Amino acid sequence: MSMNIDFANLQLQYQKYKADIDANIQAVLNKSNYIMGEEVHELERVLEGFTGAKHAITCASGTDALLLAMMAMGIQPGDEVITTPFTFIATAETIALMKAVPVFVDIEPDTFNIDSNLIEAAITDKTKVIMPVSLYGQPADMFEINAIAKKHGLKVIIDGAQCFGATYQQQCAVHQADIYTTSFFPAKPLGCYGYGGAVFTNNDEYTEKIKMMRVHGQNKRYRHKYIGMGGRLDTIQAAVLLAKLPHYKSEIEGRNRVAYLYAEKLNGFVHTPKVKSDRTSVWAQYTVRVENRDKIQEALKDKGVPTTVHYPMPLHLQECFAYLDGREGDFPVAEMVSQQVVSLPMNPFLTEDEVSYVTSVLVEAAK
Ligand SMILES: Cc1ncc(COP(=O)(O)O)c(C=O)c1O
Repeated sequence: MSMNIDFANLQLQYQKYKADIDANIQAVLNKSNYIMGEEVHELERVLEGFTGAKHAITCASGTDALLLAMMAMGIQPGDEVITTPFTFIATAETIALMKAVPVFVDIEPDTFNIDSNLIEAAITDKTKVIMPVSLYGQPADMFEINAIAKKHGLKVIIDGAQCFGATYQQQCAVHQADIYTTSFFPAKPLGCYGYGGAVFTNNDEYTEKIKMMRVHGQNKRYRHKYIGMGGRLDTIQAAVLLAKLPHYKSEIEGRNRVAYLYAEKLNGFVHTPKVKSDRTSVWAQYTVRVENRDKIQEALKDKGVPTTVHYPMPLHLQECFAYLDGREGDFPVAEMVSQQVVSLPMNPFLTEDEVSYVTSVLVEAAK
């Protein structure tokens, strides 16, 4: 028997919510309120309700969300921001765009998140922010990270691009940082149908600044208090998200069901990801570690199972960061897992038969 498995299955998702999505987009077209239409404001209220955050400020992407967070905090050239080398480039790229310095700290092999035990040793008198990433959907050790930040007078930004909706100690993870950012890129757990992102904070001052920063630092029409950016979320994307949000809790449950099935069928054959007991994951990716990755990816591809590698090269070894003088061996765990990780199809609509099919091909190839 052969099956063709869809990795994120955005097509099926659209078909399921088509009536609401089409109607919402059509309403925007009818009104032609493309920039900062009422849907954008409505979405921000809905996102505040969903997370319990005092303020949700939408923006044009998860990358812009990180920039807006650092701009609101007044990050200056030469400031240091501690983060993980095992993440999507945008995390450290935005630090560099601020002319600040990304300072990498190695990760844990089972959660893939920054190892909170190693953070204090990386703090200098230039450190301003700790920026953990909730990789693959699971928040990092926020209790420990916030304690370190408090002790050293640092701010915390969570790059939550992959974890919107995840919880930490029974609370939405947005509450575990001075500023939490996320991405609504289509393949993210809560994706729109283009670029999109949001910033969450309980801080009124940051909120006021971010709202100005996303419109070129404007406080009144054509009066510019700050250097900002063109970073607003399109109304059409807000309309898509408003149609999708009512289904999001059940999609998170679906992702957890699939992750549970994967773990059950793969335990003992490959290294499966671990979620710590005081938090939940939204499973942006289901990523395992294997010894013979190329062979396994090839075998899965031959049987109609797409896979990807998030991420094949840690950031300290990327050419764009050569000026930081990173060397092989600097972050051994990040380097090891970058050679071993492979992400399997993950979406809330996978059936148990499909998961069984993927895992049986994988187990056979991993032998
Ligand atoms: C960890 C992380 N940070 C930041 C981003 C940037 O988000 P966007 O693609 O919406 O700019 C992403 C998205 O790919 C991500 O995975």
